[in-house]
Formats: sequence, C-alpha cells, structure tokens
Amino acid sequence: MARILIIYDTRYGSTKTVARWIAEGAASKGHVDVVVRNVAEADLRGFDFIVIGSPIYEEHPLPSVVSFLAANRDQLNDKDVALFVVCVDYGAVPKEELVHRYVADLQARAEGRVRAIEVFGGYLDVDKLSDTDRKLIKDFAKLMGVPMTQVNKLDERSARKFGAHIAHLLEQP
Ligand SMILES: Cc1cc2nc3c(=O)[nH]c(=O)nc-3n(C[C@H](O)[C@H](O)[C@H](O)COP(=O)(O)O)c2cc1C
Repeated sequence: MARILIIYDTRYGSTKTVARWIAEGAASKGHVDVVVRNVAEADLRGFDFIVIGSPIYEEHPLPSVVSFLAANRDQLNDKDVALFVVCVDYGAVPKEELVHRYVADLQARAEGRVRAIEVFGGYLDVDKLSDTDRKLIKDFAKLMGVPMTQVNKLDERSARKFGAHIAHLLEQP
C-alpha cells in the first residue's frame, strides 16, 4: 500500500488541524496509509509521498519547516512532494500572489518532485497569543488601521479536497 507522510509545524494548532483534514481527505480514497507528524518527529523513511506544511509568521514559513527541507535534501530527492501554508491573508489577496509570496521559501528548498502546492486560511485569536505575538499583531493592525481580534478562515472542505487530490496523484506517477 502506498504511504503518505504529512509533516507540519504549528504555534497555536491550526496547521495541525489542517494537516489532519488533509490526512482524512487522503485516507478517504481508501488505498493509502497516511501518517501525520510534527516536523520535530518526522522520519521520511518508508514513505512514497511527503506533504509538508507551515503557518506563515511575519511573511515567512516557520524556520523549523524550512530547515527540515534543507536538512533532508538527499532523502527528498527521489520522493513526490506537496507543499502547503496556512495564513490569514487567504481570501484577501489572489491565491497566485500568496503562493509566490509565502510558498517560495519552501519551494526553493524542496528537492524531489513538487506535485502540488496549496494555501489555506488559518485561525487567529488575539487573546490566545503569546505576549510577543500579540504585540506584533496589534502593532500590525494599528499600522493598517484595522481592528484585529479573531479571524477564522479554517476550511475543512478545501483541506480534505487537497488530501484526496494527493491520493489521486499517487496513482499517477
Ligand atoms: C505574530 C503573527 C504574525 C503573523 N503573520 C502573518 C503574515 O505575515 N501573513 C499572514 O497571512 N498571516 C500571518 N499570521 C497569521 C497566521 O499565519 C495564522 O494565525 C495561522 O493560522 C497560525 O497557524 P498556527 O496556529 O498553526 O500557528 C500571523 C500571526 C501572528 C500571531
């Protein structure tokens, strides 16, 4: 049975949620084994398709995800790869622009065949952020002249669809 590994990192959990929905979408196709792992615990051995995702903080994916790609360059070389990011700009800016702006850091380091790229909406609750992150967001909101309290752009359906798409790609080498 073909095996898919979905790797993510997260600060507040929304990218883990998206990773799980992607896994459920892929598993719904029936003939694949899907595993979800935090980037700190991921081992690529034995998997055919690697999906790697990160939230966006201050315009960039988390350094843990970027350095995972660089550190595993050789192992990724002969695998199929998909990349995704989770951010709150989703829906406010054309998707192509977000792919260019936010996925480029990952794409530049992704060895192997990048067969799919996706941008998903994220979740932000100012009251639940660390002091440092809350200050950053409040300063940003002030600069933009917009109120910032809670944003929920999570979309289970689109994440499941992406997972199903990846299972489909596995059947088409
Ligand atoms: C300090 C901070 C900076 C952020 N910077 C961006 C950004 O530059 N662009 C964007 O679209 N979203 C930005 N976000 C929103 C996050 O990407 C979003 O909340 C995401 O769902 C967080 O994922 P996580 O829960 O997996 O950590 C930022 C959030 C915080 C708290």
